[in-house]
Amino acid sequence: MARIQITGGVPLNGTVEISGAKNAVLPILMASLLTDQPCQLHGVPHLKDVTTSIELLGRMGVLVSVGDRCAVGLDASGLHTQVAPYDLVKTMRASILVLGPLLARSGEAQVSLPGGCAIGARPVDLHLAGLSAMGADITVEGGYIKARAKRLKGARVVLDTVTVTGTENILMAATLAEGTTVIENAAQEPEVVDLAECLISMGARIRGHGSNTIVVEGRERLDGFDYTVIPDRIEAGTFLVAAAMTGGRVRTDNVRPDTLDAVLGKLRDAGAVITTGEDWIELDMQGRRPRAVDITTAPYPGFPTDMQAQFTALNAIADGTGVVRENVFENRFMHVLELQRLGANLLIEGNTVIIRGVERLTGAPLMATDLRASAGLVLAGLVAEGDTIVDRVYHIDRGYENIEEKLRQLGARVRRLAA
Ligand code: EPZ
Repeated sequence: MARIQITGGVPLNGTVEISGAKNAVLPILMASLLTDQPCQLHGVPHLKDVTTSIELLGRMGVLVSVGDRCAVGLDASGLHTQVAPYDLVKTMRASILVLGPLLARSGEAQVSLPGGCAIGARPVDLHLAGLSAMGADITVEGGYIKARAKRLKGARVVLDTVTVTGTENILMAATLAEGTTVIENAAQEPEVVDLAECLISMGARIRGHGSNTIVVEGRERLDGFDYTVIPDRIEAGTFLVAAAMTGGRVRTDNVRPDTLDAVLGKLRDAGAVITTGEDWIELDMQGRRPRAVDITTAPYPGFPTDMQAQFTALNAIADGTGVVRENVFENRFMHVLELQRLGANLLIEGNTVIIRGVERLTGAPLMATDLRASAGLVLAGLVAEGDTIVDRVYHIDRGYENIEEKLRQLGARVRRLAA
């Protein structure tokens, strides 16, 4: 398996261009199933999860063309299969996002249950409950979700737990349902808002997106879209934490500072000097060691769980003791055991990890387990003395476009080792 080797100790300096948001691209690609008109999506990052989504759509009969400059063309007029098979779903849980659009467009869908993953059980019961409330007949057999609906009907759906893809599945289904759908306790993530804006550009009637109550007036049909996805706030946050950990000065271009308030607040608490413009953020650590910060993850606009591993790594080398509470997923501390191999001083107590910052970490071979944990390990390698080798780096390739090239641009000593 491919590995990444990092030789730590270099303060990062320079400018890095942020790619399109993975977690906005995935639902928007699936939204192409809602129409028989051609669609164009711009700003699409070259990621494993994107190629998996394109393969999944292709198997269903969607014509997909990858243009230059990160553009993807989609045409679902020839949609002929409503099945998301296990071999693809097991590699990408977000495949569940075809369920709502297929039900709305074709009245039927068969989607493999995603199964658990490294960060938790991650059930999809709320997706199914919401679609059932809209009149879908749903059974689970042989590891597959089998769903049918002559035509979905608008309903009031109250989500027990805030779920990002659950909100997105129900939102997409509601755009073609008969009547009005109200989604209560909806996710407010910027990626949900981006999907809603794209659906509106297709003619969907949506309001309240970005709040915890979304109202959708269903329509008979939707047009295609020609849409540009928002920048990836988690990729941007990851590079800003890398700058803070290494005492450097980094500017991220093509970002939306307003989507990173909770993260920028914690970076300022850690001692970083941050300046922002309309589409850029600069972090200057002025050669200082970061101060430890306390983190509690929560749905947006709270602190994002997808930035938890990166801040756990920052606390590992910070001045002081930081307490990190993970409230969204039940097992998102896989990176903690690996950080201990570098000499970090961390103690897990239930959903909390107490981190006593140490002055220095020492490079060692590490194992990546999930996307954001892997990012945390790479960040730790940037400050550890000597070489750190992160194995199973395919986890990183799922969510970071050309991470080693971008880090090298900032002065990091990092390279990919052949499998
Ligand atoms: C999305 O996952 C993101 N993925 C995740 O990013 C992100 O960590 C997560 O939201 C939280 O922000 C995509 O958008 C493709 P949830 P999702 O449903 O939708 C429970 C990354 O690194 N739940 O919001 O799968 C669930 O178990 C990935 O880019 C149910 O109980 O997460 C979890 O504890 C990782 N029943 C909580 O809700 C359900 O039916 C939040 O999960 C659905 C969810």
